[in-house]
Amino acid sequence: MSMALSVEGLKVYYNTEKGAVRAVDDVSFDLARGESLAVVGESGSGKSTLGLSLIRALPKNATVVSGRVFIDGEETLSLSLQDFRRRYSWKVISMVFQGAMNSLNPVLKVGDQVAEPLIYSGSADKDEARRRAMDIIEMVGLPREFYHRYPHELSGGMRQRVAIAMSLVMNPKILILDEPTSALDVTIQAQIMNLVKDLMERLGLSVIFITHDLALASDIADRIMVMYGGQIMELGSIERVIGEAPKHPYTEKLLASIPRLRSEGIPEFIPGRPPDLSSPPPGCRFHPRCPYAFDKCKSEEPPLFNVGGGHLSKCWLHGE
Ligand SMILES: Nc1ncnc2c1ncn2[C@@H]1O[C@H](COP(=O)(O)OP(=O)(O)OP(=O)(O)O)[C@@H](O)[C@H]1O
Ligand code: SF4
Ligand SMILES: [Mg+2]
Repeated sequence: MSMALSVEGLKVYYNTEKGAVRAVDDVSFDLARGESLAVVGESGSGKSTLGLSLIRALPKNATVVSGRVFIDGEETLSLSLQDFRRRYSWKVISMVFQGAMNSLNPVLKVGDQVAEPLIYSGSADKDEARRRAMDIIEMVGLPREFYHRYPHELSGGMRQRVAIAMSLVMNPKILILDEPTSALDVTIQAQIMNLVKDLMERLGLSVIFITHDLALASDIADRIMVMYGGQIMELGSIERVIGEAPKHPYTEKLLASIPRLRSEGIPEFIPGRPPDLSSPPPGCRFHPRCPYAFDKCKSEEPPLFNVGGGHLSKCWLHGE
């Protein structure tokens, strides 16, 4: 059976005055049906650009330089945008955008915003769309009457539930969540995480969960993909990458930078800064910050080595 999603050699660059910003630079991975994949990495590593390219919602100055994206086995980047929107957007694959809870339309009832894709796509008349929107509003844990509220009448957590409801109203099979909890305090964050887990199970969703938080990633995902400078550094099951030990120096540093309640150690900062993607460093992109870097790292780009059990790591330490 085909994968829910397969990405092959995807490159997405932004055109800027400084030249091309290589936000996603040769990314390949699969998402199995019913699987949840966490995408983690520091700010600017290309996580959102990757998500936006999968649902064909990139900003105007972005170009898909190369690559293929298969959804249910069909290549979708070669479809016209119109075709993609008609057949895939919201119906098959949808996304809760980064910051969505703060970009709801302030002058529209939240229920009308949830119902909008149904009416826009012509898949329901007004009454039907309203009923369906109320069902979804209830499914995300809010009272049906919240249909008639305006965004400013809701708390942050409630607005995030509305944003999730909007993404689900057309029954998609694949859902991308981009930092769905980052602006919320810990208690509300936990509630939203529970909601997402519950929805994944009830709806059998395949999920891409974008976060900079490794703890959240390991709480929700089957597999984890670590991005740095627009590329995949490490990809493997949560058990292998977080449970046992990461294989890539960058993941190791990311893990060490998390404060731990019960450990003696002081969290370490990763020295240096993420690369400028308009002129990324040659060789391994992480080499200027890597404590293990050696000569070859500075000139030759490592491939993704298979370190066993489908666990991949892009580092010369794994041999040649
Ligand atoms: N519209 C744009 N025009 C030019 N460059 C952009 C644009 N959007 C993003 N970038 C650049 O592309 C790179 C990847 O950005 P992206 O937003 O995908 O990262 P991210 O991993 O989602 O970061 P964050 O954790 O901050 O959300 C960054 O260098 C960013 O500055
Ligand atoms: S390839 Fe070299 S610089 Fe890159 S992560 Fe591995 S050891 Fe560090
Ligand atoms: Mg982002």
